[in-house]
Amino acid sequence: MAVAIPGRSAPVQRTLFRCLKLLLLLIYFINYIGSAAAGNTPRHVTGEEGGNATLLCEFEARDDLDIALFRQSKKIIVCQNEECSERFVKKGACDVIIKGLRLSDARRYILRVNNADGQREVEREFHLHIQDEISVKTGEQLKMDVLLINADKVEKNSSGEWTEVWTRGHGVRVSSDRLNISDGNLTISNFTVSDTGTYRVLDSEGEILITVTVTLREDQIRNISGSSSGTKGKLDTDDTPDGTEAHTVASWIIVVSVIGALLLVLVISALIWKNRDTDQKVYQDVPTKDMNM
Ligand SMILES: *[C@@H]1O[C@H](CO)[C@@H](O)[C@H](O)[C@H]1NC(C)=O
Ligand SMILES: *[C@@H]1O[C@H](CO)[C@@H](O)[C@H](O)[C@H]1NC(C)=O
Ligand SMILES: *[C@@H]1O[C@H](CO)[C@@H](O)[C@H](O)[C@H]1NC(C)=O
Ligand SMILES: *[C@@H]1O[C@H](CO)[C@@H](O)[C@H](O)[C@H]1NC(C)=O
Ligand SMILES: *[C@@H]1O[C@H](CO)[C@@H](O)[C@H](O)[C@H]1NC(C)=O
Ligand SMILES: *[C@@H]1O[C@H](CO)[C@@H](O)[C@H](O)[C@H]1NC(C)=O
Repeated sequence: MAVAIPGRSAPVQRTLFRCLKLLLLLIYFINYIGSAAAGNTPRHVTGEEGGNATLLCEFEARDDLDIALFRQSKKIIVCQNEECSERFVKKGACDVIIKGLRLSDARRYILRVNNADGQREVEREFHLHIQDEISVKTGEQLKMDVLLINADKVEKNSSGEWTEVWTRGHGVRVSSDRLNISDGNLTISNFTVSDTGTYRVLDSEGEILITVTVTLREDQIRNISGSSSGTKGKLDTDDTPDGTEAHTVASWIIVVSVIGALLLVLVISALIWKNRDTDQKVYQDVPTKDMNM
């Protein structure tokens, strides 16, 4: 029995060393995936018209960080003091809050974070999507200020399908003399029930900038349907950015699967180890019986 002991300590050390190397490799891999997922993909942030949105930089909290926010390569002045009344305000180490959201805030943003020496620490891209709800009475005029400079297309969801209402270069795509561009706005005159639905505005890369839910005003819904069940579906007012949530979920999936992989590696190496041990014992204790098998 004692024969195995001097011979065993070297393989044990080697196995341990191999495990450690594997662990380091795994940690490096997680870091790599984590930073790739967090850093370079644009984050999607959704806000309600009139509400607030937060662009989370998700970087270590440090005092020496200097931030710059860009919209279409134009620098936006961000108030550095959380208490100030500007619409763009820095929060925490490098987050930016946009207050009193307007439809025209629906853009791509680049957030650059530099350290005190002016060296780039991180750069994040955000797609800000704005949601709005409008309720209109029949016969009224509906003006939608959605033809932003970066808008390429307006679509309407009718019977579960998206149909083009307006495209840049072609103008109004539907044959309706009630739908016009006036004053730079997409305008529907003499509003009817058929005009209700979801309108969305896309940029040239198909990214959704604005979603407007148009409903019939409530007192009219009652008169038409004869029921008083409020149909004004309030959208989720939670101003947690969608992209961040999805990102958190992704991080958790990575963490859980990596822990799972680690456990698997440990169990397998333990099994191999144990097997080698018992094999040695079997050979030493009952060599002849083993040979006969
Ligand atoms: C937006 O921020 C302002 C100032 O921080 C706050 O007073 C207001 O309640 C916020 N609005 C929403 C919808 O969270
Ligand atoms: C589009 O409309 C259909 C019914 O007309 C509805 O079920 C669906 O949820 C709508 N989709 C969106 C994104 O509004
Ligand atoms: C919309 O434009 C069409 C022609 O382009 C015109 O005939 C119609 O009167 C206009 N409607 C309104 C409400 O301006
Ligand atoms: C849409 O109309 C409003 C006035 O009703 C105006 O202030 C706004 O500038 C118009 N939008 C564009 C893109 O011209
Ligand atoms: C508005 O629509 C109603 C019904 O669709 C129609 O009777 C009326 O003449 C329209 N008014 C205008 C100004 O187009
Ligand atoms: C809807 O009903 C209310 C009373 O319930 C009435 O005052 C209003 O004029 C009606 N509206 C229409 C458009 O018929």
